[in-house]
Amino acid sequence: MTTAAAAVYDPQIPGGASAVAASARQVTKAYGAGETRVTALDSVDVDIQRGRFTAIMGPSGSGKSTLMHCLAGLDTVSEGRIWIGDTEITGLKDKQLTKLRRDKIGFIFQAFNLLPTLNALENITLPMDIAGRKPDAAWLDQVVQTVGLADRLKHRPTQLSGGQQQRVAVARALAARPEIIFGDEPTGNLDSRSGSEVLTFLRRSVDELGQTIVMVTHDPVAAGYADRVLFLADGVIVDEMHAPTADSVLERMRRFDGKRTS
Ligand SMILES: Nc1ncnc2c1ncn2[C@@H]1O[C@H](COP(=O)(O)OP(=O)(O)O)[C@@H](O)[C@H]1O
Ligand SMILES: [Mg+2]
Repeated sequence: MTTAAAAVYDPQIPGGASAVAASARQVTKAYGAGETRVTALDSVDVDIQRGRFTAIMGPSGSGKSTLMHCLAGLDTVSEGRIWIGDTEITGLKDKQLTKLRRDKIGFIFQAFNLLPTLNALENITLPMDIAGRKPDAAWLDQVVQTVGLADRLKHRPTQLSGGQQQRVAVARALAARPEIIFGDEPTGNLDSRSGSEVLTFLRRSVDELGQTIVMVTHDPVAAGYADRVLFLADGVIVDEMHAPTADSVLERMRRFDGKRTS
């Protein structure tokens, strides 16, 4: 590493890597060119703490999904650097990035993306089956117990409620013990009861299994489950809050004057 880059996060620094699961330095992401150029992220610096639940909030179009996609290696950055654990992902070749995503990252999307012909257990172990990895039986058992799905494992997705289906999707993300799980509006398609079911489970997976979770949401109630909330506006992290509550998040969101919050 050159002297000029010394200020950039360096996971080789003793004590620097252990607490940080993902990191961005001076990340800029622009879409399009010329008159239609949009700067979705503007020189973002962020560290995601390991074993914590981080929410990303902000008005519509503020860059939440873009930040998550860049951190998760689903999208390339225009400038800047990103690390997952101690691996810098900016500059990785497609094949290496695909492998890193498969081995180190879990995803939960708004649409549950379960395969209808497989039962819950088969859906949970599918990514590992595809990767040719044997699930750790004790861990799988613990995940299934934590999600509260032990008596639903033989059910197909159509035989499960929306909340249960999303819990299967969360268990699927957890089963491979990823370094970090990213969710983009993971409760966006759920009614409030199913949503709180899933959020309670995400919270437990952090508290009891030590999982690291980053969740994009526009819902202050959902953000209230997190340890820390990052607030984005116009592609910049403008604020953060620790130990948030739904009320304190709502209050902060109200100060994004004139902007929609969904
Ligand atoms: N694929 C894309 N092409 C062009 N512009 C995009 C694309 N994706 C996002 N944007 C723009 O980037 C900005 C941030 O978008 P996004 O990250 O989706 O915001 P959020 O998730 O906070 O609603 C918005 O202005 C959006 O229109
Ligand atoms: Mg979005």
